Amino acid sequence: MTEAWGPDDDKPRRSAGPVRVRVPAKINLHLGVGPLRSDGYHELNTVYHAISLFDELTARAGDTLTLTMEGEGAGELALDESNLIIRAARALATEARVPAHARLHLRKSIPLAGGLAGGSADAAATLLACDLLWGTGLSRDELGEIGATLGSDVPFLLHGGTALGTGHGEAVSPILARPTTWHWVVAIADGGLATPEVYRELDRLRAGGSAPVALGPADALMAALRQRDPAVLGAVLGNDLQAAALALRPHLADVLKTGAEAGALAGIVSGSGPTCVFLTADGAHAQTVAAALADAGVCREAVTARGPMPGARVI
Ligand code: C5P
Repeated sequence: MTEAWGPDDDKPRRSAGPVRVRVPAKINLHLGVGPLRSDGYHELNTVYHAISLFDELTARAGDTLTLTMEGEGAGELALDESNLIIRAARALATEARVPAHARLHLRKSIPLAGGLAGGSADAAATLLACDLLWGTGLSRDELGEIGATLGSDVPFLLHGGTALGTGHGEAVSPILARPTTWHWVVAIADGGLATPEVYRELDRLRAGGSAPVALGPADALMAALRQRDPAVLGAVLGNDLQAAALALRPHLADVLKTGAEAGALAGIVSGSGPTCVFLTADGAHAQTVAAALADAGVCREAVTARGPMPGARVI
């Protein structure tokens, strides 16, 4: 990670509850998508970056496993056994051989199906909160192994910072660089995009020869991070899924154009979209770009965010 958040140095062992965990959203500074593998995933070369847009999960002792939620997407997200939070709690309980008993409550700010890994973030928060509530005593890496079976981004969201992701995104290694804060504008769209659909669209574009050349490894991005200059970083941001997201949502081109005209250093679709993120020079510049995007009415909401942020943490 960019900062020295030790893997487990700050991780308590057990709590009588309630346990409250804050977890960030992620963006991908570089998302290089390789070929489709036989297991249905694409091989990735990605640089993850955790930003200051957070969900909060509270776990309390209970006699069964229940989930309630408020905030972004409340009423739209199923709270039953299909929910990634419930699945995360059950997966941990099975692994640790404890009863899956907890009352979970989610305060959601990360938009659903937005390309910001909100679902994976909530799964990461659940693993950490239930580990503590149940005293299962697993390390972040062990929680990450369970998490990788739930969503490709879960291991990263347990660690946070800025990190290289390989495999299908689940193999995470820290990027060592001097601490730098980057300032972002996050343009949140109306409605979401289903991640598998965006990957399928990329496969279609590639099969038809109309996809841009694949990005490949993240060497240029890693070198730019070390220079700590937002203009340098802006020049190398890249996302292989962007062409597919734009094909499915042509309107995103207007969002990117508006951000560029407002003076952003760079703008890309975040992950599988439809959220777009813009790099800016500093906090004041981010406010200006966010206001311009909001005024233009090209997105549901434009918010400023900083990164990198730590991963899931007890608060
Ligand atoms: O792991 P996650 O739940 O985010 O993946 C959702 C879907 O996105 C996968 O089932 C797959 O269709 C697609 N995906 C992929 N390659 C990846 C990650 C995700 O094709 N590396």
